[in-house]
Amino acid sequence: MDDGLLRVDQVTKQYGDRVITRVLHGVSFDLAPGEFAALVGPSGSGKSTLLHLLGLLDRPTSGRIVLRGCDTAGLGQRALGAFRGRTLGFVFQFHHLLPAFTALENVMMPALAARGRPDQDMRRRATALLERVGLSDRLNYRATDLSGGQQQRVAVARALSMSPALVLADEPTGNLDTESGDQVFALLREFNREQGTAFLLVTHDPRLAARCDRVIDLVDGRVRSDRRDPRAASGGDRPAGPA
Ligand SMILES: Nc1ncnc2c1ncn2[C@@H]1O[C@H](COP(=O)(O)OP(=O)(O)O)[C@@H](O)[C@H]1O
Ligand SMILES: [Mg+2]
Repeated sequence: MDDGLLRVDQVTKQYGDRVITRVLHGVSFDLAPGEFAALVGPSGSGKSTLLHLLGLLDRPTSGRIVLRGCDTAGLGQRALGAFRGRTLGFVFQFHHLLPAFTALENVMMPALAARGRPDQDMRRRATALLERVGLSDRLNYRATDLSGGQQQRVAVARALSMSPALVLADEPTGNLDTESGDQVFALLREFNREQGTAFLLVTHDPRLAARCDRVIDLVDGRVRSDRRDPRAASGGDRPAGPA
């Protein structure tokens, strides 16, 4: 086992076989447990493509993605799915909640998918998470009856419901007004500090990027710069993260 949470090693991605679009050209970086990093860069630079690969939703054309010491290239579809469920959480720009289900049901969904049927423990955990994101009075509201900011907070609770080591967030505040966006960002930061969950967060908002411990800048499918905030130091006062 290696100590790191994530190692991205010379990852390339191209789409198509007749008309080839080369999107990533040898991206490399490591992420330690508990890191809180922003992924920034112009539109079309490959951020979402990279997050898809890291989320094990698609495979790189070449290069390696090593998660918790495991080279994911060697895993079949089932193993990838299990790995994804145990290790990763996702938040997208559009929350992708199931509209006909309540906030509570949406947050229970990943556990339900993993374990097959609802139990009290799932319900308790989902309730606690929704309380944590400030929605204790909205547990039984359908997703469609919540505001955009509330829906995104449900999505955050859902992403954290399986206690992932790493949350991948693709413009999680991109569709929200400034105040709701700040609330969602603050929640991610709190979960990071309290539980040592690592985050890799795509954002266009320089204000939010400046509040991350590290900023990885992707331009034309290459890492142009990778800067750590000196205040974040190596570990600093943050929890060490899940072992
Ligand atoms: N499935 C796909 N097939 C072909 N090209 C794609 C596909 N997905 C993304 N691209 C192209 O890859 C480039 C990077 O896209 P994307 O990763 O979405 O960038 P970003 O998230 O930084 O805006 C764009 O030129 C986009 O058109
Ligand atoms: Mg994108």
